[in-house]
Amino acid sequence: MSTTSPGAREHDLNAGPLEERGIIAFRHVDLVYKDQAALKDVSFTVANGEFLCLTGPSGAGKSSVLRLIAMDAFPTRGQVIVRGMLATKMSRRRIPRLRREIGFVFQDFRLLEDRNVYENVAFAQLVVGVPSHQIVRNVMRVLTNVGLWDKRHRLPRQLSGGEQQRVAIARAMVNSPKILLADEPTGNLDPVTAQEIIDLLFRINDAGTCVVFSTHDHGIVKTFGQRVIVVQGGRIASDVKRRVPVDRNASLADRMYRPGETATREPVHA
Ligand SMILES: Nc1ncnc2c1ncn2[C@@H]1O[C@H](COP(=O)(O)OP(=O)(O)OP(=O)(O)O)[C@@H](O)[C@H]1O
Ligand SMILES: [Mg+2]
Repeated sequence: MSTTSPGAREHDLNAGPLEERGIIAFRHVDLVYKDQAALKDVSFTVANGEFLCLTGPSGAGKSSVLRLIAMDAFPTRGQVIVRGMLATKMSRRRIPRLRREIGFVFQDFRLLEDRNVYENVAFAQLVVGVPSHQIVRNVMRVLTNVGLWDKRHRLPRQLSGGEQQRVAIARAMVNSPKILLADEPTGNLDPVTAQEIIDLLFRINDAGTCVVFSTHDHGIVKTFGQRVIVVQGGRIASDVKRRVPVDRNASLADRMYRPGETATREPVHA
């Protein structure tokens, strides 16, 4: 990795079958909102099926990275490539199709307050034109996976915060996305409920979906045993992969105090 020349890395990303390339690649990305610089020279790649944690203080640029992946924002300079497609070269007509391959979960859940649990999830299928008999099957599958099929007739306000977030995750997953972006998904939850949500994201990742999880809580991501990119002032401050696999079935407390866990610092992926 560290021995590859920039030219060779470029080649890696552009050649070969799509599955062998990074599912997400940023190359020297700057993002400027009007007069506010949000990201500066950000480069990294994410492998298919990876669980990536993005951390850093408020205003560091975490949400901006996620918005670029979702093609909800476009780089001012540099390149963003998602599933082999270059953001700046995408025709606007093709963006909705790419977005279908990306699920997004937010800190504040963003459920439709006047629709019940079932309708909130089914809506994501309706807007992409899935036939109704398939919608029932798919909604049942994802709501069962998050443990909320029995509460499908409830309105969001009749659910706890953790349950609302599980509905939001079911909605993000119902179109079987290749990438799940979770922007501070545990920010409004108590530690125990937060852990349940994180375990659910791990399960989703184990089933093959690439997950990008952002949080300002650096302490918690260190316990995950996953790759952590720290963003500071719009730049990547570090990109660390953990060598020791963490037992995801252990409780959070067990993991936090696991002795002998070491991290290996690797060069920033370009
Ligand atoms: N729509 C916008 N217009 C102008 N500036 C923006 C906009 N969105 C974000 N910014 C600025 O870009 C920078 C990065 O913001 P971003 O939301 O990506 O940070 P963040 O790391 O997600 O922060 P937080 O932890 O508070 O969510 C900040 O300085 C912010 O003020
Ligand atoms: Mg943010």
